[in-house]
Amino acid sequence: MTFMQWDPDFELGIHEFDEHHKHLVDLINLAFDGFAYKAERDEIEAVLDELSDYATYHFAAEEYWMEAHQYPGLAPHREEHQRFCDRVAELREGFRRGEAHLSLEVLQFLHGWLTGHILTTDAAYGRFARELPHG
Ligand SMILES: [Fe+2]
Ligand SMILES: [Fe+2]
Repeated sequence: MTFMQWDPDFELGIHEFDEHHKHLVDLINLAFDGFAYKAERDEIEAVLDELSDYATYHFAAEEYWMEAHQYPGLAPHREEHQRFCDRVAELREGFRRGEAHLSLEVLQFLHGWLTGHILTTDAAYGRFARELPHG
């Protein structure tokens, strides 16, 4: 069973970022598999670390693109990224201290956040990109 399906509506039409989003979906599914098959704690921790690192890389790439194209919605977009990073950092910290475990609730948060962010916040710069004179 696939926890998070790729939705064609996620496509922004910017190849680089569509590939990043696919990879984020894959990592969320990997975390779900770890949860569903009761993987070792350090395995799950490694997946969460990778998800967090990759999300940071992806957000920086988007912000760089938005800055380069003088996208007017950059500031609130960056804040949304930051809030997600803060939440994930909290989760990782709790996990490392052994206080938290990967729950369905956490997985649903990751799934819901990514879905909502791509379909609204990222989709907005996707529309902006389509209106750029040089594509
Ligand atoms: Fe974004
Ligand atoms: Fe994104």
